[in-house]
Amino acid sequence: MLCKKVELQNFRNAECETVTFDSGINVLHGENAQGKTNLLEAIYYVSLGKSFRGSKDAEIIRFGEEYAAISLDFIAQGREQNVTMRFSDNARQKKTVTHNGVKITKLSELVGEFRAVLFSPDHLQMIKDGPSLRRNYLDVAISQLRPMYLHSLQKYNKILLNRNKLIKNAEEDRATFDSTVDFWSAQLAHEAAIIAKARAEYVQKSGDIIAEFYRRMCQSGEIDETPELIYAGSAKQEGELYFDTEVTERNFLRLLTDFHEREIAAGSTLYGIHKDDIIINLNGKNTRLYSSQGQQRSLALAMKLAEGEICRMDCGEYPVFLFDDVFSELDSIRRKNLLREIADRQVIITSCESDMDFDIPYRRIEVSKGKYKS
Ligand SMILES: Nc1ncnc2c1ncn2[C@@H]1O[C@H](COP(=O)(O)OP(=O)(O)OP(=O)(O)O)[C@@H](O)[C@H]1O
Ligand SMILES: [Mg+2]
Repeated sequence: MLCKKVELQNFRNAECETVTFDSGINVLHGENAQGKTNLLEAIYYVSLGKSFRGSKDAEIIRFGEEYAAISLDFIAQGREQNVTMRFSDNARQKKTVTHNGVKITKLSELVGEFRAVLFSPDHLQMIKDGPSLRRNYLDVAISQLRPMYLHSLQKYNKILLNRNKLIKNAEEDRATFDSTVDFWSAQLAHEAAIIAKARAEYVQKSGDIIAEFYRRMCQSGEIDETPELIYAGSAKQEGELYFDTEVTERNFLRLLTDFHEREIAAGSTLYGIHKDDIIINLNGKNTRLYSSQGQQRSLALAMKLAEGEICRMDCGEYPVFLFDDVFSELDSIRRKNLLREIADRQVIITSCESDMDFDIPYRRIEVSKGKYKS
């Protein structure tokens, strides 16, 4: 995967900009609030179909303007390709997306075409905070590999919304609840089993790769730590967790059938893959509770490098790595180790430091007030 050129129109603080990239390391350099993260956001939009900052489409339109556009030229599977997205501030007009000139109607058709792995400082929260960011890590990674996964996830979320509505209204309208809840539960359990299986497989596959990256990143002689990831969910199974979808579906369905009163009291669906988690241990201890900042940081990076590795195993090429502000957070040994890991891939890194002691060649792009110059 190669990100060749991005053209921006009215995207955040950029007015009309064209930026080209080298196939190796590219550094976006500039002071705070100049537009470094904005450019990564634009590139990642093409990969994810939405903002990684959780912003609404309309919020990325340059203040005072009526539309914004991103056009990305890239090479994937040996082919020159383009994705163009156009956003309008008119709430009734959705964004329009074209892939190689052909209009795309569903975002799930876009995801997986341009593959990128993003690391932002927020990803540290993935280790420290509650389970939702860890689920999101899996969802984003697996969606890029399997468009059907995203499809199941979108279906699951719609069914969940309907089931939750039913639960909320249950006290006023018990008859409707009793007559329709089984219908929604069955559908929810079906999608849940598909998603849980894909997640459990991904966690199993990535475990050893993450451990290896972590070891190489920290390598300074004295450290001997082994990370371990476990997919933990509400539909508990003995032995091989979630790998048998029939058993998982039955387990989810039982939970969704046996605890109606509890769910009505809580006002929402209490069981399903929206409650699942990945437990991340270091030498058998939960990193959320026991790890240092540096350990958490290295672990989050190892998880992102593994995401890239699994992507390469899947489609034969590395994704583009987008690293927002990683170096300011790492000591010099870890910096060097990280650079060594990514030296032969395309990476776009942001940095505020003017003096970067990279011992490998890189392209430097200066960022100032929404303008990009190399
Ligand atoms: N819709 C918008 N229209 C115009 N400007 C915007 C819009 N959204 C954000 N900005 C501006 O973009 C700038 C922030 O850009 P960005 O987040 O890329 O900074 P950065 O270079 O990554 O800085 P830092 O080093 O602090 O992370 C801010 O000045 C902000 O006001
Ligand atoms: Mg930034």
